[in-house]
Amino acid sequence: MAIVIKTPEDIERMRVAGRLAAEVLDFIEPHVRPGTSTGELDRLCHQYMVEVQGTVPAPLNYAPPGYTPFPRSICTSVNHQVCHGIPGERVLKNGDIVNIDITVIKDGYHGDTSRMFYVGEPSVAARRLCEVTYECMWAGIAQVRPGGFLGDIGHAIQIHAEKHGFSVVREFCGHGIGRRFHEEPQVLHYGKPGTLDRLLPGMIFTVEPMINAGRREIRELADGWTIVTKDHSLSAQWEHTVLVTETSVEVLTVSPGMPAPARTARAEGRSTIAA
Ligand code: MF3
Ligand code: CO
Ligand code: CO
Repeated sequence: MAIVIKTPEDIERMRVAGRLAAEVLDFIEPHVRPGTSTGELDRLCHQYMVEVQGTVPAPLNYAPPGYTPFPRSICTSVNHQVCHGIPGERVLKNGDIVNIDITVIKDGYHGDTSRMFYVGEPSVAARRLCEVTYECMWAGIAQVRPGGFLGDIGHAIQIHAEKHGFSVVREFCGHGIGRRFHEEPQVLHYGKPGTLDRLLPGMIFTVEPMINAGRREIRELADGWTIVTKDHSLSAQWEHTVLVTETSVEVLTVSPGMPAPARTARAEGRSTIAA
């Protein structure tokens, strides 16, 4: 299946889905504090999506080939959990870092975005990892332009992560998105400039680097979903859904509460970066 080029009508609906996904993160932010369980965050988000937004939580019962259905509506990945953490009994405590990954479906279209949250006061090391990972995501987004290459994105991310002594997880990547949750292309978070597919106007995909403080190797837990670092080092991830425009890039997962683009991306002088 080739990369889908979205029509203007598709793009308008993807803007709506993207904004709604980002607004779930705005909604949940004040609830991310010591004493709250990840299961409670899931319950609150589920209720907000279904009852307030009229969206469908895409993770719930999502079952790609070889996976058991995902049993919750959001992913919560704490500390050394890399991604796909299943919300449950775990109670957040001061100093934890947690990724909350939201994917909504609105009118058949998907919006996919995640942010890191500090629970209380993070350690200096944890804060640094989250900040550098945020810069990595924006360094990747800053490479998105028609005529550019998918490899440009991965390269920019890898260079920035490794400059800070961190490592890039290789087994998971960004992905095309639209009427399907995961479609072509794969967006690797490492690689070489000028390689892989050329970017064309109308492509929509995610940029979602997973960066480890220690070694890049990962392991899957017995629940069939949760991914952790093999060496138990901290891991962070940020995710936006982006559109290749006629001239550059438009971020679709925008909301009033989203953090400002990283300075490294703004320094490129790309005013269209945040729609
Ligand atoms: N939202 C994740 C991504 O960014 C995918 C989660 S799949 C789930 O691609 F089933 F765990 F929700
Ligand atoms: Co996601
Ligand atoms: Co994604």
